[in-house]
Amino acid sequence: MCGIVGYLGSKNALAPVIDGLQALEYRGYDSAGVAFIDGGAHLVKRVGRVDALAKAVKAEAKTKPHLAIGHTRWATHGAPTIINAHPHINQDGTIFVVHNGIIENFAEIKTKLEQLGYQFVSDTDTEVIPQLIDYHYKKLKSFDKAFEQALTELRGAYAIAMVTSEEPENLYAARLSSPLVLGVGKGEFILASDPTAIMEHTKKVVYLNDYEMVKITSKNYSIRNIQHSKKVRRVAETLDFDVEQVKLGDYPNFMLKEIYEAPQTIRMATLGRIRPESAIVKLGGLANVELKLGSVERILIVACGTSYYAGLVGEYLIEEIAGIPVEVQLASEFKYRDEPLEPNTAVLAISQSGETADTIAALQKVEGSGMLRLGVVNAVGSTIARMTDAGVYCHAGPEQAVASTKAFIAQVTVLHLLALKLSKGRTKLFKPLLKDLDELPKKAELVLAQAKNIERLAKKYSRFEDFLFIGRRLSYPLSLEGALKLKEIAYIHAEGYAAGEMKHGPLAMIDKQFGTLVIATDGPTLEKTYSNIQEIKARGGLVVAIATKGNRRIAKLADDVIYVPKSLEQTQTLLAVIVLQLFAYYAALKLGKNVDRPRNLAKSVTVE
Ligand code: AGP
Repeated sequence: MCGIVGYLGSKNALAPVIDGLQALEYRGYDSAGVAFIDGGAHLVKRVGRVDALAKAVKAEAKTKPHLAIGHTRWATHGAPTIINAHPHINQDGTIFVVHNGIIENFAEIKTKLEQLGYQFVSDTDTEVIPQLIDYHYKKLKSFDKAFEQALTELRGAYAIAMVTSEEPENLYAARLSSPLVLGVGKGEFILASDPTAIMEHTKKVVYLNDYEMVKITSKNYSIRNIQHSKKVRRVAETLDFDVEQVKLGDYPNFMLKEIYEAPQTIRMATLGRIRPESAIVKLGGLANVELKLGSVERILIVACGTSYYAGLVGEYLIEEIAGIPVEVQLASEFKYRDEPLEPNTAVLAISQSGETADTIAALQKVEGSGMLRLGVVNAVGSTIARMTDAGVYCHAGPEQAVASTKAFIAQVTVLHLLALKLSKGRTKLFKPLLKDLDELPKKAELVLAQAKNIERLAKKYSRFEDFLFIGRRLSYPLSLEGALKLKEIAYIHAEGYAAGEMKHGPLAMIDKQFGTLVIATDGPTLEKTYSNIQEIKARGGLVVAIATKGNRRIAKLADDVIYVPKSLEQTQTLLAVIVLQLFAYYAALKLGKNVDRPRNLAKSVTVE
């Protein structure tokens, strides 16, 4: 999952391209490169973060080009080396390509071109693209046609930007599955994998669809659909978030900033959607499927990672509040599973980025099946938002840290609203939950106010190499999310487990070298959870518990307790998860990890 940027306009193109790559670094950060055309063609590549590339460009670029493309990489084919870094070029050194995605048929294209005398220098799939364009250009003598012909022969996923020293005034790009947005500015155009790299320059954007290529000149842009070989007219949309939202402000990193946005996130997810006093839930994004929604008999949630765990919380909420049976499946498994599907089942995709390839593939599987396809998505205008019949935006604003935090809170808040809406008011929880959600931002602030205490405990428990998170009912998916956070940013081998399952195996692991975090907030199974704590303590394990304010008993059972303010069992999930996010954050800091850019990961997983 790489980030690509392209610029054509009046400014020195290297500045917006480098700034754009920095904004997209959460997509991949093992190597980076730029190519710029100014009289001749220039290529600068470095292993490591975009900063290293920025220094090299500063040292090596002697001109102020108006045309440039850039790339920040998350390696899929070939190790992160200078040779494998993008841009990749044709053997004549005249065509430069940056690519996000995977060319699945690159091996056969490479073989065909090698038989024609082409030599390849890298281990990447991408290098076949400039070589294939070269091959067609030599026959068709037009870059428009050569680029389009090459695209029709590529299989897999791609967002591509291409420049050539043969046409120093044109920028070419295309997309299939991988996201690509074109920013339309005053006398300038900027291409990027997502709008965060564009909004410094303009809020007017054009989202490219699958099988679309675009040719950009200094004056204009023209889009073509290569599947139907026809011109496409598309007006620009206006981005609805501002630059401040993606700035760090006084925070040391994006993860802490986004955790501290929890109160605001809950407010934004409910803004204009709930009126507790008159017991109303309004989800405008579902208005166009209101009728069909009424005949939904089953909901199938598909998602990945943190969004999948939000889906598991949603399962409890929708089943218990709206009485509609819910099944939650990992999108990567659902895609290749052959199960009976009923037309009156709605498929609900949950995704922060709206670009996760596994979740997109899950939705594509039920395309044309007559099943309603819904989305709970954060990224406005993203692929999943545009491919679903209807949905609910999370309005959490751009999430930059790789580890998802505020998006999970927004997703679970929206799933509360969806459950209440689907209940059609036929639940005694309707008014109390709306009131609770309305008051929750204040309670979230009270949890954040305990950061110092959570930091002290996280430091204490970060000494464990193995760690368990356990919980019951809605706290079970929360324990899975807590474990994922500790895994992905502190690299501690952590596992989430249903507390009731401890005696069926995991208890064997427990000894003095094993730490456990028990989510023991108020609810119908609290007594049972107490016994789980005692089982662990009896084997010498160390226990830190999250409990509801006023629970004195647990302080006698667990070694340490972090309290969250009282609220209904359902919304305790939104308060307890803030503790889990801070716990993982401070443990990672203690272990000297890069919390925003954990190794081997990327924010938006755009390949299967
Ligand atoms: C979570 O912290 C991870 N970044 C990852 O598991 C993520 O939740 C998953 O890739 C799904 O992403 P999405 O919500 O953008 O679809």
